[in-house]
Amino acid sequence: MENHELVCYCDHVTKGEIIAAMEQGAKTLSDIKKMTGACTSCKCEEMNPSGKCCGRDIAAVMKEYWDANPDKKPKK
Ligand code: FES
Repeated sequence: MENHELVCYCDHVTKGEIIAAMEQGAKTLSDIKKMTGACTSCKCEEMNPSGKCCGRDIAAVMKEYWDANPDKKPKK
């Protein structure tokens, strides 16, 4: 997936915007929602070509980011 591609179709949030939020310190899905507005208007059946909500897709972007930047991953 490229950075310009939409992850959240309902709120028009791209992969790059999610990564930018993580670079600014987002550590959870709820941080991403607050910082980017992603996954807040949930009309996914209409708006998302997959017909599903983007929560899992956001989680996948977060995992990919942490795999590439393990030092940014929050300690448990
Ligand atoms: S795709 Fe993100 S809230 Fe619907």
